[in-house]
Amino acid sequence: MQLSRQLQQRAETLLPGGVDSPVRAFRAVGGEPPFVVRAEGAYLWDADGNRYLDYFGSWGPMILGHAARQVVRAVQEAAARGVSFGASTPTEADLAEMVRRAFPSVEMLRFVSSGTEATMSAIRLARAFTRRKYFIKFEGCYHGHSDALLVKAGSGIATLGIPGSAGVPEETIQHTLALPYNNIAAVEEAFARYKDQIACIIVEPVVGNAGCIPPNPGYLQALRAITEREGTVLIFDEVMTGFRLALGGAQERYCIQPDMTCLGKILGGGLPCGAFGGRADIMQMLAPLGPVYQAGTLSGNPLAMAAGIATVGTLIENRETVYPRLENVSAAVADGVAKIAREAGVLLTTNRVGSMFTWFFTGEAVTDYDSASRSNTKQFAAFHRAMLEAGVWLPPSQFEAAFLGLAHGEEETRATLAAAKEAMNRVAALETR
Ligand SMILES: Cc1ncc(COP(=O)(O)O)c(C=O)c1O
Repeated sequence: MQLSRQLQQRAETLLPGGVDSPVRAFRAVGGEPPFVVRAEGAYLWDADGNRYLDYFGSWGPMILGHAARQVVRAVQEAAARGVSFGASTPTEADLAEMVRRAFPSVEMLRFVSSGTEATMSAIRLARAFTRRKYFIKFEGCYHGHSDALLVKAGSGIATLGIPGSAGVPEETIQHTLALPYNNIAAVEEAFARYKDQIACIIVEPVVGNAGCIPPNPGYLQALRAITEREGTVLIFDEVMTGFRLALGGAQERYCIQPDMTCLGKILGGGLPCGAFGGRADIMQMLAPLGPVYQAGTLSGNPLAMAAGIATVGTLIENRETVYPRLENVSAAVADGVAKIAREAGVLLTTNRVGSMFTWFFTGEAVTDYDSASRSNTKQFAAFHRAMLEAGVWLPPSQFEAAFLGLAHGEEETRATLAAAKEAMNRVAALETR
């Protein structure tokens, strides 16, 4: 780790915490973050030449594995034609058509450059459409870092154990209603209290940013029924789940049609890209057609479109085989580690939906942010460190979902379980010390 350490020290003099996104720091788990210089398939290599089996996949996008040939080729070819024009290109419509095919609820969409932009723009649009100010989000859900959404947010906010962000004035979040996830009574109460004032509900249909938390049976259906009854826009934030839990994301998996959908991560195949879309009557309120302003210098960037088309195109072509494979490999890894924990006498709750999963170090069921936060983060940190030493790189927080991709197979499963056996023994020893 000699070179990684030097690179970290250098980065810390230039970038706060040495990172450009707090989730990359290892503060919650201790140890030193390796500096990545190369990746291929299911593996990352650091500056010191160490190889790691990757379970965070650039935080979601790398479903095809790193440096997938068709993605690299598409980006190289696009780059040779020019990296950005600031004018419309045919490829934007090509990717938009693919999105519409995968997500029938998305009649029209707009590309942006990040998930943050997608969610913030979707909420602006929902507020304009309904002429209402309030919106509901759920504790532990993370929808990017725009001001109004940084309330009881998950991801780095949960990892760092802070309620929100400094620099966000009270006035900015006075219309944000943060409710417990998987709790319909709380939603009904909010609608009773703010009758005809709630513009939208934004939800991670399967939470990934407090660790993986699936919806209770009937929960998403109830959100759909209530929002329909109340004339409120239902926004599924599928930045993480889109193209991952099924080609058509959580909405396909749970058979729900939201009014609007936010996408990112896999959509751009690893390049900066997001999108928000949904019902045409809502989307047509966007400038230049309507009064809701939203713009972006690099929106629909040709390199991002090329990577997105290569990635989403591969998923569409192979949808019959891709999702069963992801399911099987993920089950083998997630359940395998759960079994190892039982054998080692470590209390562990494994939550998994498709290729998204979290090992919570608790004996309790994890159904919302509160139950997730009762996990033993010391045990998680010890497990993380031991896995990393054995060459398996998990997301460095108890409150982040792990992902795997199509490059993970039997060999990777075997290596993970072997590493986990040793790591879990270390966790067990920690307990008895
Ligand atoms: C569900 C969800 N929404 C929004 C975002 C924000 O996306 P970005 O980091 O691209 O701004 C994330 C990022 O992790 C996310 O997981």
